[in-house]
Amino acid sequence: MSVVALVPAAGRGVRLGAGMPKALVPVSGESLLLRAVRGLLASGRVEHVVVAAPAEQVEVVSAELASLPCAHVVPGGAERTDSVRRALDAVDEVAPDARVVLVHDAARAFTPASVIRDVVSAVEQGAPAVVPVLPVADTIKEVDASGAVVSTVDRSRLRAVQTPQGFALDVLREAYAAAGDIATDDAGLVERLGGEVRTVAGHPHALKITTAFDLAIAESVLALAGD
Ligand code: CTP
Ligand code: MG
Repeated sequence: MSVVALVPAAGRGVRLGAGMPKALVPVSGESLLLRAVRGLLASGRVEHVVVAAPAEQVEVVSAELASLPCAHVVPGGAERTDSVRRALDAVDEVAPDARVVLVHDAARAFTPASVIRDVVSAVEQGAPAVVPVLPVADTIKEVDASGAVVSTVDRSRLRAVQTPQGFALDVLREAYAAAGDIATDDAGLVERLGGEVRTVAGHPHALKITTAFDLAIAESVLALAGD
């Protein structure tokens, strides 16, 4: 039984504004996507990767990953949910023996191997769905439409969610079959069906690279890691 990872990488990267899909943006000479996929395989717990690429750049992305024979590239869709769905549809062909599936944003290219391993282990131990989380550092306030504060939320019970999110393959399939066009995070689809979602500890290095500021932080992460 193997573990397959789906990597949605078909976004435009509008907020980063690099003039190319975010997944192809290089950090120290290697793209976010290459780093993300290599990180999954280097965890030692992932055997197959299905990447959802921008539809008109499937060949470019395939070439980018040519050094990683376990990676399979499919065209992504208009929304992240569509991209994940297309990658999920390829699992039977790419990894027919898979029982555990991860969904991991290419934009979280610096996720430590320990987080990936912890997510896989939790699913293998019986959790139907698992998300890595971090405590929320900022004070959180609820505001009304005018911007006036309504209340201060108790942040001790709040968590920020990262990827990879892990699932029993049949659970994620059932969640996507029921989802229709609803766009939410993958574990959220399991929640909608009443399924239990467990948490493991996330890591600051698993930040989602969204803006140029985040990219600067990623470069610092690399420098810290001595890469
Ligand atoms: N993604 C995808 N297909 C889409 C939209 C997003 O596969 N139609 C992927 C992105 O490539 C990224 C992840 O989902 O790896 C998280 O999305 P986000 O951080 O929003 O990336 P982008 O959509 O590329 O960025 P932006 O929203 O700024 O355009
Ligand atoms: Mg987006």
